[in-house]
Amino acid sequence: MPVTLEPFGPAVLSNPVTVSRTNFAWATLIDLGGRGRLHDRLARALRTAIRDGKLAEGDAVPPSRALAEELGCSRWVVTEAYAQLVAEGYLAGRVGSATRVSWSPETPPRPRARRTPARPRTRYDLAPGLPDLRAFPRRRWADAVRSVIGSAVHYDLDLPDPAGHEVLRTTLAHYLRRSRGADTDDSSVFVCAGVTDGLVRTCRALHALGITDVAVEDPGWPRLRDAVTTAGPRVHFVPVDDEGLRVDDLARTPARAVVVGAAHQFPTGTVLSPARRAGLVRWAREVDGFVVEDDYDAEFRYDHRPVAAVQGMDPGRVFLLGTVSKTLSPALGLGWLVAPPATVPALRAANPVTAAPPVLDQLALATFIGRGWYDAHLRASRRRFRTRRDLLLTTLATELPRGRTSGTAAGLHVLLHLPQDVDTRATVRAAASAGLRLADLDDYRVKPAPDRALLLGYGNIGDTEIPAAVALLRESLIG
Ligand SMILES: Cc1ncc(COP(=O)(O)O)c(C=O)c1O
Repeated sequence: MPVTLEPFGPAVLSNPVTVSRTNFAWATLIDLGGRGRLHDRLARALRTAIRDGKLAEGDAVPPSRALAEELGCSRWVVTEAYAQLVAEGYLAGRVGSATRVSWSPETPPRPRARRTPARPRTRYDLAPGLPDLRAFPRRRWADAVRSVIGSAVHYDLDLPDPAGHEVLRTTLAHYLRRSRGADTDDSSVFVCAGVTDGLVRTCRALHALGITDVAVEDPGWPRLRDAVTTAGPRVHFVPVDDEGLRVDDLARTPARAVVVGAAHQFPTGTVLSPARRAGLVRWAREVDGFVVEDDYDAEFRYDHRPVAAVQGMDPGRVFLLGTVSKTLSPALGLGWLVAPPATVPALRAANPVTAAPPVLDQLALATFIGRGWYDAHLRASRRRFRTRRDLLLTTLATELPRGRTSGTAAGLHVLLHLPQDVDTRATVRAAASAGLRLADLDDYRVKPAPDRALLLGYGNIGDTEIPAAVALLRESLIG
């Protein structure tokens, strides 16, 4: 028996954004009155609704079974009506998805998705920040993962400890004691997703402990500053000179914690001098505060023995943050945080739902380190990077004699200081459009400074590409 239904109710259609069309009370919305067969009347009612704009382009109509039930008719009536409207171009259906309105009263030209201009292809990558991605130890990492899958006990698959799996924490504590001179055990090691994540966690804890002001280096990596503010504290900028962070300037800020790149400051490449290291620890004691040591690429020091972490000088005042982003790959998202023991409860409490990285990845890293593969990989990387750095430095000296390099003793990038007349910003842009990636020191500065310098990373470029990359750089210099 045909049902006579009310016309569309304006109130129901007044808010098309928040109303799901498939949830309409269709029986009250479709007027099936008039003459003709029921499926024709249903098709007409829907067509009118679409033409009047009451059903807009893209809206889903209900599944045929649901609408049939609601209208009290057979499903065949609905499928016939839908088929008619599909044939007329008012509806469009795809297998496995809802049938939708495909027409509007004045179908406006579809706004074309704005095309982002195609990024020029990178031919040579001298941007700082990456290790040698081609040299990722795929086979050994796969062996570590395979071994973990086979050997993990069933409760390793339980809800993970947000501080990290105890096996990796113990492995890291041991590794950091022997390789970085850290003073720690597993109870104060937290596994995190890298330095950035570790800094957010640390600053949340510091904030909860009443530390509202944290200093960062200028120039510095902007993500560290962002990590601090994300966690709550206010940020203060402290200048860096050729001995590293200026502790006297730090003491003039209201900060009671400071983030510092002691082994290899980014981006200047300076190594914190012994006097400054001692001064920093003294400052932390005087203000009853903390040092947060960013140890991001400390593994790569070429001309001297690695300098131990500042953390070992006062484990009660210094947090130590590390990462595999520079040694293996940033795609792994694995790092560590060593906390002063007294802050461990605050760290746990301030990060109650922040999960550590996936447990199987943590166990793979523990296996990778435990079997000596991490040390072997670091030894090989150090050799490769030293050779590559030397090649870069000699090529620069020949091709760009007006430039002067600094920050070369450690890490994965050097600074190339250029005469005042060089426009480094325009140079970076010109190089990028020629397929060469590099960075401008100014991009890491908060306080402007007159000297001009480029950052040249050599982690992710092949040795044989260096001469061509430097030649391209010379051609791209603007000024
Ligand atoms: C100064 C500095 N610290 C730390 C990192 C590593 O951060 P994450 O471990 O979050 O990748 C980087 C990476 O470029 C960096 O430049």
